[in-house]
This record gives sequence, structure tokens and C-alpha cells, in this order.
Amino acid sequence: MSDLKATVNTTENGFSVTGNEEIKYSFQFVDNIFDVAHDHLAKIYATWKRVLLVTDENVSRLYSNQWSAYFEHHGIPLTTFVMAGGEKNKTMTTMLSIVDAMDAFGLVRKEPVLVVGGGLCTDVAGFACASYRRNSNFIRVPTTLIGLIDASVSIKVAVNHGNLKNRLGAYHAPLITFLDFNMLKTLPEGQVRNGFAELMKISSCADKRIWDLLVQNGPALIETRFGRLDGADPSLKTIADEICWRGIKVMLDLESPNLHELGLDRVIAFGHSLSPTLELAPVVPLRHGHAINIDMAFFVTFAWIRGLLTEAERDEYHQLSHSVGLTLDHELFTEDMIVKGTSAILKTRDNKQRFAIPNPYGTCVFINGASYDELFNALKVHKELIQQKYGGGEGQDVSA
Ligand SMILES: NC(=O)c1ccc[n+]([C@@H]2O[C@H](COP(=O)([O-])OP(=O)(O)OC[C@H]3O[C@@H](n4cnc5c(N)ncnc54)[C@H](O)[C@@H]3O)[C@@H](O)[C@H]2O)c1
Ligand SMILES: [Zn+2]
Repeated sequence: MSDLKATVNTTENGFSVTGNEEIKYSFQFVDNIFDVAHDHLAKIYATWKRVLLVTDENVSRLYSNQWSAYFEHHGIPLTTFVMAGGEKNKTMTTMLSIVDAMDAFGLVRKEPVLVVGGGLCTDVAGFACASYRRNSNFIRVPTTLIGLIDASVSIKVAVNHGNLKNRLGAYHAPLITFLDFNMLKTLPEGQVRNGFAELMKISSCADKRIWDLLVQNGPALIETRFGRLDGADPSLKTIADEICWRGIKVMLDLESPNLHELGLDRVIAFGHSLSPTLELAPVVPLRHGHAINIDMAFFVTFAWIRGLLTEAERDEYHQLSHSVGLTLDHELFTEDMIVKGTSAILKTRDNKQRFAIPNPYGTCVFINGASYDELFNALKVHKELIQQKYGGGEGQDVSA
């Protein structure tokens, strides 16, 4: 929600307006949000006496029985719109199909749309809400690890356009994000791995405690869906919950003062320098977690060569990646890719490299002006190291 306080002044030949916009949104941890015993959503939608829920096909298949029963129990009529999932459908066409659904529903001003899905669904539906009558409300229930930890801390909403990821979008905050980690029970392992890579990113650069917990529990966290699968060791769930709580908190602390991304030295950009170019390079794109991990694993080797990380720290990063099935290197990760990726990122980072690199774990530095000679040498060393110690470092479920 936002509110603008503005003053209008008369100038020599016109007027000038100065305003401050207040942005307010909140997060609530609620396990089993669609359990009829809970009234979080019922309380909100009782006011409107109905609800429009937007989701994707997989989430609908897995959870529609639960949410139908929930709203029926609370006497709130439910209308569902199921959008097509997948990056190829993250388009204006899908966004406009949601707008049409809002129109058909006759959405009233301020009436919040309920969006339940992964980062993709919340991005597209959030953009539809930002656009519909220029500003419609929404409530967000993320259902993937990326959605819960990564997308939920941001107020960016977007669609792809002309082969470019997230090219069209807006800044639009949901009223509330309900964080229900039990949604992870049904999430495929490959999707959990994607989120794990983002947690490696944020912890290696900004939270040593999370980093250590990931190092100690990596494979078990993925296998048990962060302790949420039936039969998982309860102590692992406690650890997973601490990781996720801290992960969200540290990302909010870092990113909330920079909601509109005007500051360009961003800790959370670790792994996101060369990977945007690499991710889309293969015929079937790499999964996001693998693409960013190749980028991070490379910069860890680079940091070790520069003396920013010790050999033990370097190996800790690579071993953890390897043990959880994240890719460490790729045949398309070449000198040419480094040049392409670096030139692309210079355009969005005001002509500076701003490579975020852990130094040591839990803190980070920004590198500028690394020469291609240095980067190419690091690449050679990295490829030899990964070949020798990790058999080339290919991960599991690498492609999207
Ligand atoms: N706004 C932001 O700041 C931000 C941040 C990170 C990512 N993103 C965007 O999010 C997208 C990636 O998000 P994602 O990784 O959540 O992918 P996604 O939303 O495409 O979900 C991945 C897959 O998991 C399925 N799924 C979702 N929840 C499930 C569940 N609980 N159980 C079983 N299956 C489930 C989906 O149907 C889909 O097939 C990208 O488009 C990216 O650009 C946005
Ligand atoms: Zn990412």
C-alpha cells in the first residue's frame, strides 16, 4: 500500500510538485494457510464477500481442493483463474488474460486479488494488478522456495518480452505476503535446488550463520524439502526454519532501502553477473539455480586466486555445490561468454563491473576493473580445478 504526501510550489514559469510516497507491506509466517482452522484469508475476504484467486496449472492441480474447501467452509464464494505456467508463457498475453479475468469478475477498487504460486505466477499476476486501473491490490501466497525467499522480498513484478527476461514490469507491493513453507512438501527436488542456490548466494555474502547451516545440512535440506516432507527429522525442520527466517530478514535488510534499485552495488547480485547471459545460451535454457551457481563457483575460484578467500573456503563452496547437485562449470561458460556477459552487465551497472564476491563468508566486496586477462586466467584455473576435483562439476536436473 502506498500513500503520497505532496506539496505544490509555484515556479517562475509553472509549478513543481514534491512528494514522498509511503510504502507499507507485511509478511506473516502461517503454516497450512488453507487449513479451515485458520482465518487469515477468511477475515480479509469476508469484507468483500468473494475472492478472485489467480494461480498456475500445477499449483491448481495440487491445491485447488484445499482452497475450495477453505473458502466454502468460511462461506466465501471463490472464482479461480488458472494461468499457463513456464517462462515461455511469462508474457504480456498471459498478463492481459489475467486482466480480462479481473474485468469479468468486476473487481472493485481496493479489492485484493489472491495470488497463489511460484515467482513466475506472482510476477505476472502482480504486474496485472499493478496495471489494472493503474493500481489494484493483491495478496501473495508464494509456493516455491524461490517465491518464498527470493521473489517475496522484492516488490518487482514483470513479464518477459522479445526474448528478454523481465523486460516489462513495475514496482508494485502486495498488501500482505503469507509465507507457508508447507507448500514445499509438493515441490519437485529440482525446484528446491534452485532456491538452495539463492540461499548459498545470500549467506556466503551476508550471513555466516546461514552459510554454516547450509554447509552442515545441504543434501538433507533438499531431500526433505527443507524439513517439510512427512517423516523428516523435526530438528532439521527447526534448522531449515531458521535458515529461511534469516534468509528473508537479511534480504529485506539489504534490499528494502533500495526498493527501486537505484543503488547498484548490490550484495544480492552475487551469481547474477555472467549468469543472465549463460542461463539462456543453451538450446534448452539452464535452470536458474545452476546458472547462478556456475557464476558463483567461478567467482569463488577468482576470489581465491586474488587472495580474498582461502583454499579451504574455496573448497567449502565447491564441495557444498557438488553435494547438493548444483552445476560448477559448463561447456558454454567460455572466454567469449565472459566477454558477452560482462558487456551486458556493464550496461545495467552504470558501466562498472560491481562483481559481488564473498570475502570472507558472511561479508562481501565489490570488484571493479577486473581485466579480461585476469578473468580468462581464472576461468582456466577454474575449469582445471573443477575437472580434477569434481569430474567437470555437472549437476542434477540441469535444464529447465
Ligand atoms: N520479483 C522478483 O524479484 C523475482 C525474484 C526471483 C525470481 N523471480 C521470477 O520468478 C520466476 C521463477 O520463480 P520460481 O522458481 O518460483 O518458478 P515458477 O513459478 O515457474 O515455479 C516452478 C515450477 O514449480 C511449480 N510449482 C510451484 N509451486 C509448487 C508447489 N508448491 N508444488 C509443486 N509444484 C509447484 C510451478 O508450477 C512451476 O512448474 C522467474 O520468472 C523469475 O524471473 C522474480
Ligand atoms: Zn536469482
